[in-house]
Amino acid sequence: MPLTHTKELFTKALKGKYALGAFNVNNMELLQAIVEACEEEKAPVMLQISKGARQYANPVYLKKLVEAAISLSNIPIAVHLDHGDSFDLCKECIDEGFTSVMIDASHEPFDKNIEICRQVVDYAHKHNCVVEGEEGGNYSKEGHYTHPGEAVEFVQRSGVDSLAVAIGNSHGAYKFKGEQHLDLDRLAAIKKALSDGGLGDYPLVLHGASSVPKDLVEEINNYGGQLGGEPAGVSEADIEVARRIGCTKVNIDTDLRLAMTAAIRKAFAENPKEFDPRKYLGAGRMKVKELVRHKVRDVLCCAGHAFD
Ligand code: G3H
Ligand code: 13P
Ligand code: ZN
Repeated sequence: MPLTHTKELFTKALKGKYALGAFNVNNMELLQAIVEACEEEKAPVMLQISKGARQYANPVYLKKLVEAAISLSNIPIAVHLDHGDSFDLCKECIDEGFTSVMIDASHEPFDKNIEICRQVVDYAHKHNCVVEGEEGGNYSKEGHYTHPGEAVEFVQRSGVDSLAVAIGNSHGAYKFKGEQHLDLDRLAAIKKALSDGGLGDYPLVLHGASSVPKDLVEEINNYGGQLGGEPAGVSEADIEVARRIGCTKVNIDTDLRLAMTAAIRKAFAENPKEFDPRKYLGAGRMKVKELVRHKVRDVLCCAGHAFD
């Protein structure tokens, strides 16, 4: 099955009212875990690759690994640049055949963010690639949060094809303190403003969507890890509401890292004499696969939609 275009996945997800999992890929085991779980669950999937992943694994290795996954599976797979930080990086990925790129200029003032996104959009659209932008960094009318009216202006002027929202979400394993959670009313207001602004059922993207499961944190700590403080993620209930409101792409990386780490720590602790990397990396791969299966089946509801 060839690579599937991100636009086609978005169109189907919006119609079917499910969310696409956008899972970060850094090495072979993560890639196999994601694709095997999605294959078994018949879920379409977005593989996302960050600048750091390209530096770690080398873009050529990643490209070949993704090609292998595509050739061995039947599900629709799109490849996306996560948090592109410059036109040049986005161009590199577009030229390599990525089906979508994110240009993250949300730390720039509003007009500058639009200008940078526009430059990427102009190049991407000439090369059959779609672009994700983000509005709501330090310069938003509402501090770190996306302002619904500004979101409409941002999309209209930049021409981006999907919008990453800032609604209290953040990356990593320490997202919230106490009872904090996502501002889902704001998410609904953004979705409505985009529709009222003539942008239709516009695809929104939720970054920082890991739930930081307690059992994984406990397993890591039980086997010698030191995840102190109060690790906390987005509840699955909040993701469910975000999906219903219209988050079409849901980004998950931290939970994969936690699952891999928990399994490897356990394998090391239980078999201190073992030094075959296939044993502990294999355990990590299995754990990530089960996590991805749970996400696509029970949280994102994209399982069973691969051949819609
Ligand atoms: O948003 C960040 C993603 O989790 C990717 O992280 O830049 O460490 O690869 P990374
Ligand atoms: P998490 O850190 O919550 O997994 O978020 C990942 C992400 O947003 C990648 O872009
Ligand atoms: Zn992100």
